[in-house]
Amino acid sequence: MPGEGPAIAPFMFVGEAPGAQEDATGRPFCGRSGRFFDDLLDHAGLDRGAVFVTSSVKCRPPGNRDPRVDELRLCREAWLERQVACVGPRLIVLMGTVPVRQMLGRTTPLKSLRGTPVRRAGRMFLPTYHPAAGMRFPAIAAALREDFCRLRIHAETGR
Ligand code: URA
Repeated sequence: MPGEGPAIAPFMFVGEAPGAQEDATGRPFCGRSGRFFDDLLDHAGLDRGAVFVTSSVKCRPPGNRDPRVDELRLCREAWLERQVACVGPRLIVLMGTVPVRQMLGRTTPLKSLRGTPVRRAGRMFLPTYHPAAGMRFPAIAAALREDFCRLRIHAETGR
């Protein structure tokens, strides 16, 4: 599942790994957490067809385990960095601990990272929670809505 979206897009959303349905269809966020993700975009007035959506690793790890550090590095170098270079997003939204570790090398709890943009190698990243966490915890859903609503402001002001 390489990802989906326009060849050039202002926002790139990076999830963790495809779920069973994503693996079967080849489309990112098309299962249950995908509906929640779509609602977050709607709430922020963003059109899913205008953003690029992908994930840290491109297929579902066996037994749905977390991707390993070597797998994250390989997928970053082989895919994600090239996708970022092609799509040229103004803001890359890292949804969950896996893409935050993969792209920023940070393992700090998301609670203290979320919502604050990080500049790295000329790119702007926004750490936030994974939509699946928002489905389980109302406080995380509220934080996700807040972070999504501020995406345009971050992209326009660079902060
Ligand atoms: N979770 C992800 O991180 N990505 C998907 O595409 C689906 C679920």
